[in-house]
Amino acid sequence: MDWGLKNRLSRIIQPADGHTVMLAVDHGYFLGPISRLEKPEEAIAPLLPYADALMLTRGVLRNCVGASADIPVVLRVSGGSSIVGADLANETITTSVRDAIRLNVGAVALSVFVGSQYEHQTLANLAHLIDESVEYGIPVLAVTAVGKELEKRDARYLSLCCRIVAELGAHFVKTYYCEDFERVVESCPIPVVIAGGPKLETDLDALRLARSAIEQGAVGVDMGRNVWQSDHPVPMIRALRAVVHEGTSPEEAHELLLELKHSGQAQPV
Ligand code: 5RP
Repeated sequence: MDWGLKNRLSRIIQPADGHTVMLAVDHGYFLGPISRLEKPEEAIAPLLPYADALMLTRGVLRNCVGASADIPVVLRVSGGSSIVGADLANETITTSVRDAIRLNVGAVALSVFVGSQYEHQTLANLAHLIDESVEYGIPVLAVTAVGKELEKRDARYLSLCCRIVAELGAHFVKTYYCEDFERVVESCPIPVVIAGGPKLETDLDALRLARSAIEQGAVGVDMGRNVWQSDHPVPMIRALRAVVHEGTSPEEAHELLLELKHSGQAQPV
């Protein structure tokens, strides 16, 4: 692996402990103004100091994040479908590597939809993106998307997806946590981060999800809704950091969240 690519990756997955807390705010690319991300700048700003990387589209980056932000950007470069359209899986590459370089990104991210009608198209998108990105030392995050079919999130399917994107040359992969998650990680030769998925009932549930994923081999989380749809986003991301980076138990981290909330460090939403 080239020095530049390794260097970019090491700004995202922290070399001190091999873990990462990525903040995902790319949802608008197919969901529009999703609840609590209506004004991205307001949701993102207070969370930035606690994230190791920020995953978003170029539109939100250019318009809602100050250029002095000192955080590696994982730029979503796939899209082209919406939640009200015919098929979420029908994605193309929406942003050139040239523009990604202009934006000084740490990595680029693209979704694949294995098993869908657009499996070939999205895997070909990935292969093409990898070929172009490695030319410039930019790591590629493959996202094993399931669209509206959340029930697809099982170890058999996710192992298949993660292994395929690794074989195609992705440098890290974002997938879902599932039962027998260690099977997904064991058969995947690249680092795995997990999405949080739709907002869980409680913050503690999301902290438990993160802990289980780390215990079973994930290098970290790339969470969105379970952070900024929390009633206390800043305490939540700080608690998440404690779980991912310090090995704090979910219950202790939740105590921390409550302390931060009571000490006035909760951000009103
Ligand atoms: C969909 C995505 C999302 O846009 C997002 O990054 C997921 O984050 P979360 O599930 O934690 O809200 O990648 O495939």
